Amino acid sequence: MTELYESATRVSLTKRTRRLRKSPLLRTLVQETRLSVSDFMYPIFIDQRITRPQPITSMPGISRLSLSDLRNEIPDVVDAGIPAILIFGLPKAKDALASEAYAPDGIVQQAVRTIKKIAPDLVVATDVCLCEYMDHGHCGVVKGGRVDNDESLQLLARVAVSHAEAGADVVGPSAMMDGQVKAIRSALDAAGYDETVIMAYSAKYASSFYGPFREAAESAPAWGDRRAYQMDFPNRREALREIALDIEEGADIVMVKPALSYLDIIRDARDRFDLPLAAYNVSGEYSMIKAAGEKGWLKADSIALEVLTAVKRAGASIIITYFAKEVAQLLKEA
Ligand code: PBG
Repeated sequence: MTELYESATRVSLTKRTRRLRKSPLLRTLVQETRLSVSDFMYPIFIDQRITRPQPITSMPGISRLSLSDLRNEIPDVVDAGIPAILIFGLPKAKDALASEAYAPDGIVQQAVRTIKKIAPDLVVATDVCLCEYMDHGHCGVVKGGRVDNDESLQLLARVAVSHAEAGADVVGPSAMMDGQVKAIRSALDAAGYDETVIMAYSAKYASSFYGPFREAAESAPAWGDRRAYQMDFPNRREALREIALDIEEGADIVMVKPALSYLDIIRDARDRFDLPLAAYNVSGEYSMIKAAGEKGWLKADSIALEVLTAVKRAGASIIITYFAKEVAQLLKEA
């Protein structure tokens, strides 16, 4: 019996895929996707009401910062080799017109000016939305119990222009209002900011993965949810339509968000469009890995490398991630 197996399984292989996996350097040589710190954009929360870093419980390792904390934080980011940051603001007050979102001395505007003084070359992107600044927490103007699309456009354009005025290199409209990219592009151009880049949150799904962010940014809607403006997660073709429209309206960079449960959308977008493609590895995607790591259920570091590489392999060229600083370190050590 043993002999029979021996002869039957003595094969003569000419093609062996394992050959290329023999040693670490050989594996490096044939690596198809290389994750690099230059892929990263690092989100930063700046809170007008605090004076020292406030750890965000649901996002271990991430804190809300005060303006003066930027003096330590920004050099860290630059030293890590991270090329870009994405600013979110927590204002001192919220109202029904999101006034602090476009105030000349609003928290994001001040932060941008401060950062540009510390690190003029760092690419500074801002999130252009109203939810953190509205007393009701929705991303647009509320009229008759619903978020009014066209009424919101003027405010979003004002926010974007005020960020550009403060010195932002990139503005990122994330409110999912129809026509927001067009409104922002024409307002920026009219104000003389024709070099300000628009990174459109084009395919932004209504996702429970934003949970920890809403704690961090205090931006949860007071009633209802965002499903009447953010995308429905079963939809794939609709994402391509959203992206195509944003490109028509003048987007320079398009985005798929979240990333991990949407790798198919990232791949579709990469295959269909030629613009730089960003993917947002959102708060919940970060927190669940951190939580499992803290419990000892998995190795958070290697999982982070694996998932961010997957996002790049799917086709993203810009990866927005809370892991940026840590993974930059891991990539340096590797
Ligand atoms: C603002 C905005 C959100 C995120 C980025 N910009 C929250 C939301 O739409 O509710 C989520 C980012 C994250 O979860 O990391 N609209």
